[in-house]
Amino acid sequence: MKKIGILTSGGDCQGLNSAMSAFVRALCHEDNSYELIGIKDGYKGLIDGICYKMKEEDFYDISSLGGTILGTSRQSFKEIKSKDSNKLEKMIKNYKEMALDCLVVLGGNGTHKTANFLSENGLNIVTMPKTIDNDIYATELTFGFMSAVSRACEYLESIKTTACSHHRVFVVELMGHDAGWLALEAGIAANCDMIIIPEIHYKLDKVLEAIEKNRSRGKDYAIICVAEGAVPCDCSNLKHSQFKEELKKQGFSSAAYKLSYDISKAIKQEVRTCIPAHFQRGGRPVASDIILSSCFGSFAAKYVKEQRFAVMTALNSGKIEPVPLSQTSGLIKKVPLNGCAVAFACSMGISFGV
Ligand code: F6P
Repeated sequence: MKKIGILTSGGDCQGLNSAMSAFVRALCHEDNSYELIGIKDGYKGLIDGICYKMKEEDFYDISSLGGTILGTSRQSFKEIKSKDSNKLEKMIKNYKEMALDCLVVLGGNGTHKTANFLSENGLNIVTMPKTIDNDIYATELTFGFMSAVSRACEYLESIKTTACSHHRVFVVELMGHDAGWLALEAGIAANCDMIIIPEIHYKLDKVLEAIEKNRSRGKDYAIICVAEGAVPCDCSNLKHSQFKEELKKQGFSSAAYKLSYDISKAIKQEVRTCIPAHFQRGGRPVASDIILSSCFGSFAAKYVKEQRFAVMTALNSGKIEPVPLSQTSGLIKKVPLNGCAVAFACSMGISFGV
């Protein structure tokens, strides 16, 4: 019997269950020599040795379920890496005590740093890239992203009816951490007037100009889609974490509140702020996410069977390929300013606040 551990780590998202379901089907449907060990709540379960034997049936018919049947948690990589913490030792010890032949990890950027670290310390690891942020390096797409775009788009469209009826300006803040993928794609899909992303530092006067231009063309309402990591031009020298501190000092809980406040000081129109937050990560995955995550799951099973470890399943140029963990961990994929999504948005007259 070969023992395969599986865990989901970091923020949940749509597609985690479908990825695991496909992984288990692809691994077990013709071969009963694998034993599945579910590890509870991500790396926390590996640190504390909380795991259970799972059956193939546990993964049947979960593909359209949001969240993760294994539970998840955030574990700081800094802390895991720190010499003062014994978390690495505990994880290695539990991996050995569980007698695992391989650990399959589903997670985002932080999760991949730890996965790479575990792999460097002798564990057999295969990973799959999940995050609504779509910011994992070396894969064109992560699962969870397309579902979040769809949820965010639905939210933006719903806000639009009130914006239109009440002639208001709405500033809607989307997630995405330090990258603007989610705001960019949801903003385009929902036909927003403005999209503000961390990769393009906005200027308040340009935002106001765009609102005015809208009005002069007969549109007396506006939807401004702002990524949570957005930074104004005059603070572009600050790191995101420093800017967040600065916002706090000024009494704003996030980027959108500051932008709304600055706009409302300059125009007569009513300005409102809306934050869909975890609504974006919730609910069932869209079909294209079920397909993408299932492809990752099926290829992860292939790599486990081939004993091709220290790799992440990645989508590039329409193909799934194994990318070495060392080539993706610690790097962030940002929105390219010369990419087609930015060009397309510009061609439609969507302002980026510059
Ligand atoms: O990484 C996914 C994500 O949803 C980010 O977009 C967001 O910044 C963060 O997680 C929120 O995390 P939490 O749910 O722990 O507040």
